[in-house]
Amino acid sequence: MRQIALLAGLAYWTGAARDVITDDAHFYGQSPPVYPSPEMVGGNEWEAAFQKAKALVSQMTLEEKVNLTAGVAADSTCSGTIPAVKRLNFPGMCLSDAGNGLRNTDFVSGFPSGIHVGASWSKDLAFRRGAAMGGEFKKKGVNVLLGPVVGPAWRTVRGGRNWEGISVDPWLSGVLVSQTVSGIQGQGVITSTKHYIGNEQETNRMPEGNTSSVSSNIDDKTMHEVYLWPFQDAVRAGSGNIMCSYQRVNNSYGCANSKTLNGLLKTELGFQGFVVSDWGAQHAGVATAEAGLDVAMPGASEFWGNHLVEAVKNGSLPESRVTDMATRVIATWYQFSQDTSFPKPGVGMPSNVLDPHEIVDGRDPAAAPVLLNGAIEGHVLVKNTKNTLPLKSPRMLSLFGYSAKTPDFFNPSSNLLFSQTWISGMEALDSNYVSDNGLPTFGKNGTMFGACGSGAITPALTISPFEALKIRASQEGTAVFNDFVSDKPSVEPSSDACIVFGNAWACEGYDRPAIRDDYTDSLIKSVADQCSKTIVVFHNAGPRLVDGFVDHPNVTAIIFAHLPGQESGPALVSLLFGDTSPSGKLPYTVAKNESDYGDVLDPAQPEGEFVNFPQADFHEGVYLDYRYFDKKGIEPRYEFGFGLGYTTFAYSNISINYIQGANTYPWPGGPIVSGGQTDLWDAIATVSVDIQNTGSVAGAEVAQLYIGIPGAPAKQLRGFEKPFLQPNESQSVTFHLTRRDLSVWSVERQKWQLQQGTYKFYVGSSSRRLPLNGTMDL
Ligand SMILES: *[C@@H]1O[C@H](CO)[C@@H](O)[C@H](O)[C@H]1NC(C)=O
Ligand SMILES: *[C@@H]1O[C@H](CO)[C@@H](O)[C@H](O)[C@H]1NC(C)=O
Ligand SMILES: *[C@@H]1O[C@H](CO)[C@@H](O)[C@H](O)[C@H]1NC(C)=O
Ligand SMILES: *[C@@H]1O[C@H](CO)[C@@H](O)[C@H](O)[C@H]1NC(C)=O
Ligand SMILES: *[C@@H]1O[C@H](CO)[C@@H](O)[C@H](O)[C@H]1NC(C)=O
Ligand SMILES: *[C@@H]1O[C@H](CO)[C@@H](O)[C@H](O)[C@H]1NC(C)=O
Ligand SMILES: *[C@@H]1O[C@H](CO)[C@@H](O)[C@H](O)[C@H]1NC(C)=O
Ligand SMILES: *[C@@H]1O[C@H](CO)[C@@H](O)[C@H](O)[C@H]1NC(C)=O
Ligand SMILES: *[C@@H]1O[C@H](CO)[C@@H](O)[C@H](O)[C@H]1NC(C)=O
Ligand SMILES: *[C@@H]1O[C@H](CO)[C@@H](O)[C@H](O)[C@H]1NC(C)=O
Repeated sequence: MRQIALLAGLAYWTGAARDVITDDAHFYGQSPPVYPSPEMVGGNEWEAAFQKAKALVSQMTLEEKVNLTAGVAADSTCSGTIPAVKRLNFPGMCLSDAGNGLRNTDFVSGFPSGIHVGASWSKDLAFRRGAAMGGEFKKKGVNVLLGPVVGPAWRTVRGGRNWEGISVDPWLSGVLVSQTVSGIQGQGVITSTKHYIGNEQETNRMPEGNTSSVSSNIDDKTMHEVYLWPFQDAVRAGSGNIMCSYQRVNNSYGCANSKTLNGLLKTELGFQGFVVSDWGAQHAGVATAEAGLDVAMPGASEFWGNHLVEAVKNGSLPESRVTDMATRVIATWYQFSQDTSFPKPGVGMPSNVLDPHEIVDGRDPAAAPVLLNGAIEGHVLVKNTKNTLPLKSPRMLSLFGYSAKTPDFFNPSSNLLFSQTWISGMEALDSNYVSDNGLPTFGKNGTMFGACGSGAITPALTISPFEALKIRASQEGTAVFNDFVSDKPSVEPSSDACIVFGNAWACEGYDRPAIRDDYTDSLIKSVADQCSKTIVVFHNAGPRLVDGFVDHPNVTAIIFAHLPGQESGPALVSLLFGDTSPSGKLPYTVAKNESDYGDVLDPAQPEGEFVNFPQADFHEGVYLDYRYFDKKGIEPRYEFGFGLGYTTFAYSNISINYIQGANTYPWPGGPIVSGGQTDLWDAIATVSVDIQNTGSVAGAEVAQLYIGIPGAPAKQLRGFEKPFLQPNESQSVTFHLTRRDLSVWSVERQKWQLQQGTYKFYVGSSSRRLPLNGTMDL
């Protein structure tokens, strides 16, 4: 197969047509052909919208239908626009970035990023954040929110976009993406769950010169159990749109791969909405239409438009495919009642916010608690010794580090990479973490409450940790000393505690340069040498190693603050002063050393005979993160699922129960609806435990269930609940297990299979603190 790839390269150099190299599903023979593209069939919750769409589309000419399949230039800052068909009163649609809040316009909020949602382990907050974002997108006339993200699935530890997603664990991502989709779409805004699929590194994500984009080579079992899993949850939750990705899967482009689009998505998962290309991810004409792409973005498609009309007229593409593309677009619009109750597309997205324009304030005061609590619950406290936290009316606090305060200035002229509109007088944040030469820096100029690229946020207001701390200090009578500039600051000896604020930066378009940096480690050590209670706070867009300083006896507290959004400062202050007890848990593993992550630390690079066709072989299979650490017996620094609070919890009374009358035949037999076979979600068993707050303050605990399925990794997350308990209070929590939760993917039968044998169950406060266990035989 590799030989064939090399031949294709030669064909390209000798000037073969572009379609030859991109029509690679056939060419390489690695991604099995799945044709024709399944037509939308409606049914169940999609039936009414499907019937209305069929009626409308039947009145359209071929040209009108083709027009719906690609973007047009528009007088707005929408990321993409599907044109109107005025004759039939279809007003068109506005699609905009992204999954952490509406970007690139005025009067919007900045929500916690995906990684922060993952770290909160809160289904309720994930739903309410989705609802609040959906409300803002709707007021601004954005029909399609370009998120949420479950690809990357965090395979590459240095991956530049992992933070836009939720977790390295597919089960956790699946539960929280499902809540997010339901929250957003409940407001009548369509989600574009992305990037489908295998979009696991930024390096070589797009073709460049004579180098093709990287190919994620994923075996069928791993595809189902890891990468497809959260997309399945999103489709089941009703996600109306899926965005196909830049890179290739088994050498066929994400937006031209008939196996992933026609096969997995539209057949196996029964997806009824439309597939949109990532911006510029279309590289062929008829081939992408046949492979299942429905809409090409952003601008007039170089490959479709008149070419698609011609392809139908000359018989190379059946008109039914174009009709299906248009039907999927229009049905999705009806499905969310955008025909009756939606603002004018792009109404709140002026092309230039500096010109006079009608102000559409997207924000809803009712979302304030969601912004604050969402920010609070995604902070993870991993170390707290010498009674450092919570702070108790300190006499003097000393603050250090470049991530404490909002940047003093923003230089739009250096912003070459991501054409972010700079809104004068507002605190927008995007590419100020990219230096003039375009190389990522560690973000030495300001607090990192979001990260950069299309998942960045541009809130109307943000409160930095420094600003919030000063206000609290004035209430507590605390003196505040700060030095945010020196790399070896001197510490005022009367400080009761010191806080060092660092970043672990990431951006779309790059993989992270490193997962620790000497500058910040040395700053932390230099403060700790002089301050007996040194609190380290990282705004981190992914794992950040701490072994450079964690054993320093004066580093007495460490908080992963992740990417909290606009309420970064108030959230941190609430935790530092003990108004709330930390309740976040790591949605990834923090290793002691880079090498502990194995081969997936770094992105795949073009090399050897594949220099023009970079290959990323996902040979580790399902063994990512804690599954890999378990398998290899590697001791992590802080394990997946770990996080401290200001109180303690005791676990007792595990009980494992079959559901009376549950069908435990190994194979599902149900019909396919959105999300797959209906009986994959049948309840098979429940696990209950009692949790008691044994400490002295109120707090929430994330109780986690891991299962060792026969023949699968030693343990995999299959349940979590987050009860809030007063001191001494106890509560029984129940985890509900479905057929899919207890199955493994059978490559032979192409179905999920319940296993025979002994299932092992573990319940506790992290993936390695599991006081309760039990078994169940199937
Ligand atoms: C990719 O190739 C592997 C190995 O042949 C196969 O198991 C898998 O189904 C293929 N997936 C796609 C999407 O082509
Ligand atoms: C298709 O879209 C173009 C650009 O918006 C427009 O000029 C043209 O009239 C449209 N064609 C039809 C048949 O609606
Ligand atoms: C890629 O193309 C450039 C210029 O077209 C050429 O100099 C270079 O040798 C090519 N690289 C490879 C690996 O073929
Ligand atoms: C039909 O039209 C398409 C799109 O322009 C073109 O790529 C293809 O070569 C044409 N086929 C024939 C047989 O003319
Ligand atoms: C940080 O800001 C200073 C000015 O205060 C500027 O000279 C420097 O280039 C900035 N650094 C980065 C990495 O943007
Ligand atoms: C810890 O901080 C104190 C100052 O409070 C300092 O005297 C001491 O040397 C520090 N310890 C270490 C190991 O640096
Ligand atoms: C840490 O990892 C680096 C490579 O990432 C390796 O060179 C080094 O030996 C490792 N150190 C230890 C102590 O394992
Ligand atoms: C565990 O179960 C026993 C017996 O039912 C009960 O008395 C006890 O309160 C339970 N423990 C907790 C923490 O609820
Ligand atoms: C918790 O229970 C213990 C023992 O019953 C009791 O001494 C203590 O006062 C209780 N604490 C609270 C906050 O109710
Ligand atoms: C299961 O729990 C029992 C009782 O706490 C403990 O002795 C045993 O080591 C645990 N087994 C595993 C596999 O964790």
